[in-house]
Amino acid sequence: MIHFVRRAENMDYPSAVEFLAKRYGIPITLDKREQAENARRERVLAMNKEAARFFHQKLFEPEGAEGLRYLTEIRRLPMPLIRHFGLGFAPGSFGSLTDHLRKKGYTDSEMASAFLCGISQKTGKPYDYFRNRVIFPIIDVRGDVVAFGGRVMDDSKPKYLNSSDTPAFKKSRNLFALNFARKNETDTMILCEGYMDVIALHGAGFSNAVATLGTAITPEQARIFARYVKKVVICYDADEAGQRAASKAFALLGEVGVECRILRVENAKDPDEYIRKFGAGAFKNLMERSRSEFDFKLEKIIAEHPIEDPDHRIKALEESVRLVASFSSSAVREIYLHRVAQLLDVSAESIRRDVEKNIRGRVRKDRREETRQFIRQSEGYGDRINPDYVKNPGAAAAEEAILGILLLHPELYRQLQKDGRPLQTEDFFTAFGKKVFAALVERIDDPSFEAGMLGEVLSIEEMDRVAELRQNRARLQNTLTVLQDGVSRLREASARSEQSLEDILSKKRRKKEN
Ligand code: UTP
Ligand code: MN
Repeated sequence: MIHFVRRAENMDYPSAVEFLAKRYGIPITLDKREQAENARRERVLAMNKEAARFFHQKLFEPEGAEGLRYLTEIRRLPMPLIRHFGLGFAPGSFGSLTDHLRKKGYTDSEMASAFLCGISQKTGKPYDYFRNRVIFPIIDVRGDVVAFGGRVMDDSKPKYLNSSDTPAFKKSRNLFALNFARKNETDTMILCEGYMDVIALHGAGFSNAVATLGTAITPEQARIFARYVKKVVICYDADEAGQRAASKAFALLGEVGVECRILRVENAKDPDEYIRKFGAGAFKNLMERSRSEFDFKLEKIIAEHPIEDPDHRIKALEESVRLVASFSSSAVREIYLHRVAQLLDVSAESIRRDVEKNIRGRVRKDRREETRQFIRQSEGYGDRINPDYVKNPGAAAAEEAILGILLLHPELYRQLQKDGRPLQTEDFFTAFGKKVFAALVERIDDPSFEAGMLGEVLSIEEMDRVAELRQNRARLQNTLTVLQDGVSRLREASARSEQSLEDILSKKRRKKEN
């Protein structure tokens, strides 16, 4: 259940446990380390909240006049919107926030852990991290201020500073304005590049707009979208970089089953500028005309191959055929191939034949590729979780058997260790095997031991593999003898690989000597 919640809710292990415990009214006792960690996180959040309040208030004091002028006059943000997002201003001095927080009882090292200050290498003294910038607080779905972005008010660099990851914040798992967007009633979210794009969109009534935090979209963020909505309209900057990033977002969101459309603003560099120039109504029209994945890719093909030129036209045709063939529904293909026919002025019939030929060829190729992939996989190539597998498949397979049996029958561990030579972490060959075994040994004497506890130290993907190991063994015989046999196989295979290494080295040595 914990593993399921981690996956479904995109949570780390402690949050998932807490979530379930709350839901079912189970009291949880935390060990000292967990208590300390929680306390640290709570302190960071409380400190962030205090900092956000400080920045926001500064905006209305004489010290922050420049910030307020920037937001209201240069960026033309109305007051209610500034308050809605809790925007703020960080004064230019090196100590205004740190002095304030110290008065509130926070230590320098706490401030540094939250990226609210840096520590001077020369003097060892703390200094404000955000200075002379307008501040964008980042608020998570629980309503906690988890981080900040700060923008300069001129053309100096870097344009934005952002908090790095802290005990209370992971950039790759948060979206700017998700706290508002998740309350939106539609089945769609708008994904933009920048803080200002999101704020402009919310100001124009599109409260379902969010942005990533100064990085390209991550798989974790894609899962967040999948959790809240069916559709995403990607609305990146109009420039080359923005459109390339859009392609990537398409792929990641497609993988988690979100239906994507793409919107490219015209005569403006980004949605913020577009709305300021043309207004909310015009943006709504653009939304309605947003393009599907097919249109986006087809337009790209046509843009790359000017179709007046016959050679290019053939290239464009070939690529379009491949594009149409990539859709699995024949009805969808039928609609798209007519579009290609019209655009390239070729008969639909001939394109249909090419598409079918392409599919037949692809099916054959897919089968070949599948076979190849199967071979590769059974040899463990491209195994991200256990990359050492290929280096010694014999040892790795023995490890998997041992771990699988121990996960199913923890009671066998005691009996196994009565042997002359107890099994140790160092006996394991792969780094993954070592990690799982070490985690197992630490917990296996607990009478309430179960495999899910390994999630405390293993990632979601590693836990998927652990679940697989267990399932693979469940069908087989799992006795002490089988376990002991696995251990000797592991030792033999490891010894062989060391031996062969020894061989190679001694051969080399001999060569040199000759
Ligand atoms: P942009 O350069 O497109 O900025 O970066 P913008 O959002 O249009 O900002 P304005 O309109 O000039 O104020 C898009 C996003 O990339 C991140 C920020 O999250 C920004 O909103 N970014 C950009 C950084 O983190 N650091 C930078 O130096 C620049
Ligand atoms: Mn902008």
